[in-house]
Amino acid sequence: MKLFESDYFTYKNNQLYCDEIPVEEIIDSVGTPAFIYSKKFFTDRYNEFTKAFSGINHTIFYAVKSNSNLNVIKTFYDLGSGIDVNSAGEFYRAVKAGVSPGKMILTGVGKTAGEIKLGIENNVKFIKAESEQEVYLIDEIAGQLGKTAPLAIRVNPDVNPKTHPYISTGLAENKFGIDSKSAYKLFLKAAGLKNVKPLGIDMHIGSQITSVEPYKEAVEKLAGMFQKLKSEGLELTHFDIGGGMGVKYKDETPFTPEEFAGALLPILNGLDCEVSFEPGRYLTANGGILVTEVLYTKSNQKKNFIVVDAAMTDLLRPSIYGAYHHIQPAELNGTAKDITADIVGPVCESGDFLAKGREISGCKPGDKLAIFSAGAYAMVMASNYNGRRRPPEIIVDKDKFFVVRGRETYDHLLFDEEIKPGLFEK
Ligand SMILES: Cc1ncc(COP(=O)(O)O)c(C=O)c1O
Repeated sequence: MKLFESDYFTYKNNQLYCDEIPVEEIIDSVGTPAFIYSKKFFTDRYNEFTKAFSGINHTIFYAVKSNSNLNVIKTFYDLGSGIDVNSAGEFYRAVKAGVSPGKMILTGVGKTAGEIKLGIENNVKFIKAESEQEVYLIDEIAGQLGKTAPLAIRVNPDVNPKTHPYISTGLAENKFGIDSKSAYKLFLKAAGLKNVKPLGIDMHIGSQITSVEPYKEAVEKLAGMFQKLKSEGLELTHFDIGGGMGVKYKDETPFTPEEFAGALLPILNGLDCEVSFEPGRYLTANGGILVTEVLYTKSNQKKNFIVVDAAMTDLLRPSIYGAYHHIQPAELNGTAKDITADIVGPVCESGDFLAKGREISGCKPGDKLAIFSAGAYAMVMASNYNGRRRPPEIIVDKDKFFVVRGRETYDHLLFDEEIKPGLFEK
């Protein structure tokens, strides 16, 4: 079995550590399954990214959808990040984390009137429209509030990001944004509206993109549009590239921030505007693990199974995208032989697996396994299906750990739900 190690999750004396703390010490305190994050990872990734673009006026808006724990949001905010929120719920979380709405951008293909009102009332930095109807609704709501809404329009550049089809968002067939031709006309129309101020062009072409080429192609297309709109008299000040920067789950070789900057800066430098990025996964994915305990092992004529106490309800990505997450023991045992097994959870769905046909060192009930790359799109997608309580989240800061969200209780499962006697009256 090939070991997955990083500067943040390492083995010392065969014990897996997160930074300076043995994973076992945390698990002894909180149990399994549990998410463990490294604050140092988050900090290093943010600093590395912003440094690569230090040559231009830019802002990173951390995409909260990747990991919305209040302490994760605050970690990035304290580093100087803005925050990209996709709903009233994410807005609420960001406010609770102490983020000023002026440092947020409001995203989303289907924002409700209530969400738009919330954004305008609280003076978010800009609101991104994804349809002509939405631009008119933003104008109407801003008018009712006696305000001018700062507007960006999300353009769909129709480029292929060569990623999983479920996370590709910048192709004509995807629901996101507005095609370039229509968007150009819409910018001109928006400039004539009373209550919106078109400030920026926005794009987000997909997620887990490992090559700079699709970005280059999209930015080149939209940079031309940006200049043309400026020559028409629009006072555009922002160019938002979105998120999507890929990470290593298995054997991908994603581009580095320096390579990204090297590819984009020659185009962006000519625009004389503030450039925004909305990374989520890049900042969080490899900063987290999900630790689970082996409950049972069994074999039939065809397969070995390792049944663990984490499930698709804790980490949905393998089930919905067939995503690969590296899995290995939290304690190495030099004598255990490798086996090939399906690593599966307790939920009654055949789709409840964390790995299929995976080579892993043989393990026994009670052993702890670490599931890697679980810092992004993991806890945020967790559910209570099968009456399961969502796991706790722990952040390690050097040699200390903090339980930043406890394990749900059974009462959480019953939130605002009760037997209504009237329903059962005869
Ligand atoms: C508009 C927008 N921005 C940013 C992101 C973050 O993407 P990633 O986590 O791949 O960087 C997403 C992800 O869906 C998105 O839809």
